[in-house]
Amino acid sequence: MNPVSQRINEGVRKVPTWLLYVLAVIPPALLFYNGVVGNLGIDPVKKMEHQIGLYGLWALIATLSVTPLRRFARINLLKFRRALGLIAFFYISCHLAVWLFLDVQIWSQIWADIVKRPYITIGMGAFVLMIPLAVTSNNWSMRRLRKNWGKLHKLVYPAVLLGGIHFIMLRKGIQLEPLIYLGVIVLLLLLRLPPISKVRSPARA
Ligand code: HEM
Repeated sequence: MNPVSQRINEGVRKVPTWLLYVLAVIPPALLFYNGVVGNLGIDPVKKMEHQIGLYGLWALIATLSVTPLRRFARINLLKFRRALGLIAFFYISCHLAVWLFLDVQIWSQIWADIVKRPYITIGMGAFVLMIPLAVTSNNWSMRRLRKNWGKLHKLVYPAVLLGGIHFIMLRKGIQLEPLIYLGVIVLLLLLRLPPISKVRSPARA
């Protein structure tokens, strides 16, 4: 193992997982606070909606990066993977809540939007796929589901892919930023394909 990975792994061992949960609450709390005090410009609801959507995407990408980082760089963040996934779910739930309670607000409009606006349908699809993952992310479910737990948790792959597609669709025209996100997501998924994932890292060879 190279010295940098070793140093990182030693540092990671000292960080308690609960700290990640505590730190994760700060960005949406700050965003909400800034919205309330009028620091988010002329359309604070849109700003909140977009920013929390981005937080969710970042957390999903971070979750997906844990395995390749371990496999190819020998950086072991496995102890944070469950927390990262739950944090992603928390952010996307906040994103959905902002949309429901601050943006649309009209309940009769909500279903119409989900059905008629493809980017909302796709975003909703991603959220629905994440629900069983969040519900079964505890040790009890892990023990009960055994091998099926791993299979079920592969749902994170379509979920993050739909999240990336949702981002591309909601931006008008073809824009670079969401394409870069989708590119990163596709790369992280490709790295899991058996021919690539079996490549031995230099540290291991
Ligand atoms: C994994 C799930 C999801 C991810 C990763 C995600 C991510 C994002 C991102 C990154 C943005 C735009 C940020 C920007 O433009 O800077 C966004 C905007 C938005 N998302 Fe999501 N989202 C998800 C699910 C949902 C769901 C479930 C809904 C509602 C049902 C939703 C509704 C919206 C809306 C309304 C916008 C703003 C569109 C506009 O500009 O008018 N998203 N989302």
